[in-house]
Amino acid sequence: MIVKNIIQRIRPQRPHQRSDNVRRFYMMIVTLSILVIWRLLTTVGVNKPSLTLNDIRKCATDNLDADLSFLDSAKPIHTDEFFERRERLARALVASNADAFILEPGYTSQYYGNISQTDWEPWEPEERPFLMLILPEFSQSGEMSAKTAFLAPHFEEGRVRMLGIPSREDELDIVIWEEHWNPYATLLASHIFAGFNNTTKRRAPKLVVDEEIRDFISRGLANAGFETVGLTPEVELVRQIKSPAEVEILRAVNTGTVAAVRAMRPCLVSGLTEDEVQYILNEVLIFIGFDLFFNIVLFEEDGALPHGGFIVGTKKATEDTMIVIDVGAHYLGYSSDICRSFFIDPAQRDVANLFTGWLGLLGQRSSRKAQDISYLGLREEKLKVWDIVLVAQSAAAAVLKPNNTAADVDIAARAVIEDAGYGEHFTHRLGHGIGIKAHESPYLNKWNTEVQLRPGMIFTDEPGIYIEGKFGVRHEDVYLVKRNEEAELLTGRRAIGPYDP
Ligand SMILES: *[C@@H]1O[C@H](CO)[C@@H](O)[C@H](O)[C@H]1NC(C)=O
Ligand SMILES: *[C@@H]1O[C@H](CO)[C@@H](O)[C@H](O)[C@H]1NC(C)=O
Ligand SMILES: *[C@@H]1O[C@H](CO)[C@@H](O)[C@H](O)[C@H]1NC(C)=O
Ligand SMILES: *[C@@H]1O[C@H](CO)[C@@H](O)[C@H](O)[C@H]1NC(C)=O
Repeated sequence: MIVKNIIQRIRPQRPHQRSDNVRRFYMMIVTLSILVIWRLLTTVGVNKPSLTLNDIRKCATDNLDADLSFLDSAKPIHTDEFFERRERLARALVASNADAFILEPGYTSQYYGNISQTDWEPWEPEERPFLMLILPEFSQSGEMSAKTAFLAPHFEEGRVRMLGIPSREDELDIVIWEEHWNPYATLLASHIFAGFNNTTKRRAPKLVVDEEIRDFISRGLANAGFETVGLTPEVELVRQIKSPAEVEILRAVNTGTVAAVRAMRPCLVSGLTEDEVQYILNEVLIFIGFDLFFNIVLFEEDGALPHGGFIVGTKKATEDTMIVIDVGAHYLGYSSDICRSFFIDPAQRDVANLFTGWLGLLGQRSSRKAQDISYLGLREEKLKVWDIVLVAQSAAAAVLKPNNTAADVDIAARAVIEDAGYGEHFTHRLGHGIGIKAHESPYLNKWNTEVQLRPGMIFTDEPGIYIEGKFGVRHEDVYLVKRNEEAELLTGRRAIGPYDP
């Protein structure tokens, strides 16, 4: 169209004027072409069209490669530690007036027996109970030790022995049941509970039933004649207090997960989608040697729902997008759970950029003016909220001390957010214990006034502010409660600012 108009306009003109105009026209084309090529060249490495996901992944892993020393202090849990855990549990059972602890394959059996649900799942046990029991046993001289026993289907006995469950005994003590027997009655009548139901001790054995056990098993035990109770505070405390080896693994996996986000951030550019950022972060976590667990990447208003919602993952980042990433990985059987809220870096403002910027401004000047006020207001609110959440997180960390209650910690953070006028936007509890599972007891909420913190407990500290339809901000770090000092950060370093999370 433009070319045709120009030709039409120059047609009636005199010959030498005409060649002048044509020359000017060609000069303009050449100049524009040079600008376009120059722009393409100068934006290499800055903007998305010239970067592949692979380039960004490599940028992130290169950033990380500089330092993987956070892995150094983490060692696999030693065999002896499994025995120590069972000894502590046996003492807790005595303190709870209980006779045994009973559990199914899962997180708890990973803690006491190094058997995870995935170890057992390929066997498809489904309706056939495979149970682990830990019970206090007394020697002639009255000394207590922890006895470990199992209940397993007869035809699976050989495979149970092959699981490699750490044991002090030469052979695992397995009570077997045939397919046509009642497994729970078999257990009650077995040598494990021989001391019961005799003339001097005519009472049902009292079992502390793990919280992960399936309901039909719990009812089966009760119907067969066991007394069943839920977890007692003493039994819960065993796993809540982390050993030095656990502390070091949790430090490694949580520090590494934060390091992955931090290494990735400077590589991110406008135009990337939530799904693409999730993919890149997964790649960085795999590069470290972590197993993927969860990875929630939320942009702008998507981040106003703490765990996302019906997010499709196609929202694109801009330089003003508040990005919230809640991510956890597994390492040596332990979980991380951290959250960072940040902006990507602005693209480098080269001359070509400014040039296109001006062109854009010329076209938009009149229409943009009216939006500027709300635009600046939103950005300022993001920065303000980011700071408030950080102050709330510090306030909670300051009271993560022995003998304070779980509620105290939540209330300390909540007070900061309420004072800033955002109380109704802090919609979840402050945090939770963390270990083999990402979420473990005790839970830090303002109602939990019963539980006192103890040295060795490890918690997430994760206040947030969520403004529906706009954006959300959450900072999540992991802390170890110490005996006589401030809680110790297990995530390496906290966020400093929205460009340095
Ligand atoms: C626990 O299980 C893991 C995975 O199967 C294994 O690598 C490790 O050696 C076991 N630990 C002990 C103490 O048996
Ligand atoms: C009955 O059980 C008690 C407690 O375990 C034990 O000390 C006692 O020897 C048992 N008596 C008989 C007759 O088995
Ligand atoms: C307990 O003893 C009584 C009487 O000896 C017997 O009928 C019952 O079956 C026993 N229960 C178990 C679970 O062994
Ligand atoms: C916490 O309370 C226990 C007793 O319940 C006490 O022995 C301990 O010294 C207290 N610790 C602190 C840090 O106050």
